[in-house]
Amino acid sequence: MARRNSFAISIAAAALMAPALTYAKQAPAADAEARAAATVEQMSADEKVVLTHGIMALPFVPGTVIPADGLPGAGYIAGIARLGIPALTETDASLGVSWVGGARADGATPLPSGLSQAASWNPDILYKGGAMIGSEARAKGFNVLLAGGANLTRDPRNGRTFEYLSEDPLLTGILVGSAIKGVQSNHIISTIKHFALNGQETGRKFVNSVISEAAARESDLLAFQIGIEQGQPGSVMCSYNLVNGAHGCDSDWLLNQVLKRDWRYKGFVMSDWGAVPSIASALHGLDQQSGEQLDAKVFFAKDLQTKAAIDPAYAAKLADMNIRILSQIFKYHLDTNPAKPGTAIDFAANGAVAREAAEQGIVLLHNQNGALPLAASARRISVIGGYANSGVMSGAGSSQAQLPGGPSITIPLGGDGPFAALMQIQYHASSPLKAIKALNPGAQVIYRDGTTIADAVALAKKSDVAIVFATKWSTEGLDAADFSLPNGQDALIAAVAEANPNTIVVLETGNPVAMPWLAKTAAVLEAWYPGGQGGEAIANVLFGKVNPSGRLPITFPASADQLPRPAVDGYNDLEPNFTGDPPTPDAKLNADYNIEGSDVGYRWFARKQQKALFPFGFGLSYTTFASSGLKVSGLNASFTVKNTGSRQGATVGQVYLVSRAGEAKQRLVGFARVDLQPGASQVVKVTFDPRILADWKDGGWSLPAGDYAFALGDDAEHLGTPVTFHMVARRWKD
Ligand code: BGC
Repeated sequence: MARRNSFAISIAAAALMAPALTYAKQAPAADAEARAAATVEQMSADEKVVLTHGIMALPFVPGTVIPADGLPGAGYIAGIARLGIPALTETDASLGVSWVGGARADGATPLPSGLSQAASWNPDILYKGGAMIGSEARAKGFNVLLAGGANLTRDPRNGRTFEYLSEDPLLTGILVGSAIKGVQSNHIISTIKHFALNGQETGRKFVNSVISEAAARESDLLAFQIGIEQGQPGSVMCSYNLVNGAHGCDSDWLLNQVLKRDWRYKGFVMSDWGAVPSIASALHGLDQQSGEQLDAKVFFAKDLQTKAAIDPAYAAKLADMNIRILSQIFKYHLDTNPAKPGTAIDFAANGAVAREAAEQGIVLLHNQNGALPLAASARRISVIGGYANSGVMSGAGSSQAQLPGGPSITIPLGGDGPFAALMQIQYHASSPLKAIKALNPGAQVIYRDGTTIADAVALAKKSDVAIVFATKWSTEGLDAADFSLPNGQDALIAAVAEANPNTIVVLETGNPVAMPWLAKTAAVLEAWYPGGQGGEAIANVLFGKVNPSGRLPITFPASADQLPRPAVDGYNDLEPNFTGDPPTPDAKLNADYNIEGSDVGYRWFARKQQKALFPFGFGLSYTTFASSGLKVSGLNASFTVKNTGSRQGATVGQVYLVSRAGEAKQRLVGFARVDLQPGASQVVKVTFDPRILADWKDGGWSLPAGDYAFALGDDAEHLGTPVTFHMVARRWKD
């Protein structure tokens, strides 16, 4: 059964991933494992605890000395020169080689945020981005990129939502898998993270995610499962939070049973930084202690060696830990094709990759009477707010990448301690104002910072068009209290829109936001954190050089009351948990994910029959499309997408399950991005992954017999006429 499953998925992926992608050669897994086992045989007792632990390699962590073959970056695991095993040099993260507060004094190409990349619904763009950031990591001497954030966005206020991809397991799994393949095409290892159910930052080191096994398997775990199948990451990073009472990095259920037994995962599990509660985590499935200075103790060095000498369970486990780590080093040729520090980076070419990703990720949310694209005839353009004269906002925390030359603006937020450097608002030097001017040399383009509303209003009144840039910062370690824009920006937009009906709002946000001013504005673009060439990407969309094609990978709620949890659990009771704060040993907090179970995001909205501000899958274009002719036969579906407008453009065909055996149930079962000339149409074929249709029951997947209804969707709320197919009952194991 397992074979049949993976076959179904690879077809689904193949259908979604045209044109064919090329991957770097890997050593066959069996050879790498055999070599790893033989190498472990040659290891001394001391050598067996070299690969199992390492430091956070950042000079600002007190007492840290970075070894000569290390680099300032997230982590360092010593190698064993006698056996030809290289050190593991680790850097964050999914959005580019991280800046780590400038600790390396170099720069990298920042991709747009995870949500932005996912809004493309385009596995190819995720692959390209992954390949690009992986190449930069390698060129700087890193051989492990801690990229592959795959947590579902269970709470849209989560401070790390911008690092993640979506609220849907199929979309997340396919996209993260593609990004990981891209990263690993560089002979480096990528890490899918944070396993699992790491749904909020509030109390992140002690919050306990409470969820039934069925709900977890059908949602967050399924995203990881698909991502691992597709991407074959060398490593999985376990999470800070607890799941049903056990720490992510100490959960026998998650690590030994789900990941290694049921999914037959052969790579290694590295801890998150400072997430290891005890030496027993080794028995529970953890293979490597990362950022060991942040834990109460270095458990996986001498202590582990001593245990292994007297306890056969630890001895066997230690051998397995080494085999897992070594097999991935060999599989991805980290030893024979080492990372090359000092390699020149083609920042122009890599910037173009980041720009293309940003352009495909920008979502046109609102467009009254064709206000966008802006006409070349607009002579007087006012650009207001959002530091648009300087750059575009970037999300903060360990994932933050910065261009060579560093941020264009830094606004320190205070705080103290070693991680205060990470607590600052920063912008990438990619100015939308400059890009707008470059595209409109004949126009008068005037900028106001927007801090004085009357001043912005006076300018807007005299302009043909007013473009307001609104930003909302978010960071690892801190959730958002609500959906409002900070610093009076909602009032600014309302006043400018009142003064000039031709007001365009460009949002740079890490999360969904509320838009109390929406009806007054002419157009709204969600540009997310658009990365190192975000300014250019925004201008290209505003002026129609690029037709927007992004579709929301996350629901924008109309109000917090619509969510399973109207407030983030613990938000109002706890001190802010800034990045790197030590855990409070006796702190307790539950996040009850059984409220929504596997109905995350749009599935919850469908269950509650709630109308979102903007639904999952939503996005407008400068042309129009029609999807029709859905045919379903078993797990195969086909339909036609037509460009019914007058411009070339791309859209995303979306197929949803809408009911199953008489029960209303909504799940995204297939999608495909199609790019069409005006008047052109394309037949799209998708293959459903049966796990998306199924329930997890009694240790396996189960499809009830009955009529399954499917519908094409412009988004999760706007669905076509359902088509039914009778499925026979089926049960299978992973
Ligand atoms: C984050 C990880 C990151 C690690 C190393 C942790 O705080 O949760 O995502 O990879 O730090 O920087």
